[in-house]
Amino acid sequence: MQGRFITLEGPEGAGKTVLAKRLVAALERAGHSVVSTREPGGTRLGERLRAILLEHGEEAAPPVVPTADVLLFNAARAQLVGEVIRPALERGDMVVCARFTDSTLAYQGYGAGLPLNALRAVADVATGGLAPDLTILLDVPPEIGLGRKTGAGRNRFEASFDLAFHQRVRAGFLALAGAEPGRFRIIDSSRRIDAVGPEVVAAGLSIL
Ligand code: TYD
Repeated sequence: MQGRFITLEGPEGAGKTVLAKRLVAALERAGHSVVSTREPGGTRLGERLRAILLEHGEEAAPPVVPTADVLLFNAARAQLVGEVIRPALERGDMVVCARFTDSTLAYQGYGAGLPLNALRAVADVATGGLAPDLTILLDVPPEIGLGRKTGAGRNRFEASFDLAFHQRVRAGFLALAGAEPGRFRIIDSSRRIDAVGPEVVAAGLSIL
């Protein structure tokens, strides 16, 4: 038996963490065994890479080269797929993952300007070609999403990249969704979480 793989994507402050929890709870209530994870992270190696990737605040630190970001995000991804996601799917479990390859395409591709075909090739190596069965895009304008994060809680991408970068990221996610309407569901995440949650749950249950 083969499980189903659901990813949650979106710009900053879209509510992925809270909405992932609600989706996982609903899938479990429906009787499924669910593995919940996130990128970057989800493994011992991945969480260490996450700390490196998201840290910021050292004034003198030179900016990270986008290609270095790509390789580190994909190193974390390879470990997560090999150690957690593939074994879970092979057991027949559902997997819910906050962010996956689409985040690299949106942030390092549309945001930082690296070519999408090269990013797809690297991600293909990292994932062995694994793609989600369903991707829920939590769409929110960056003006709203970034406003939901407080100064101290901001990661490197929120703190160091300007509004135009985050606007390209949002537009990139929408372009990716437009190109693959069968895999994506777009949900307006600028609304209150109690309005968004039931739509996320319905999307997740719809692929069972
Ligand atoms: P996230 O977990 O949403 O951060 P937080 O919990 O602090 O809100 O995402 C981590 C950051 O990494 C986010 O700014 C997007 C970025 N990112 C990329 O740039 N490329 C990638 O491939 C991934 C997975 C994340």
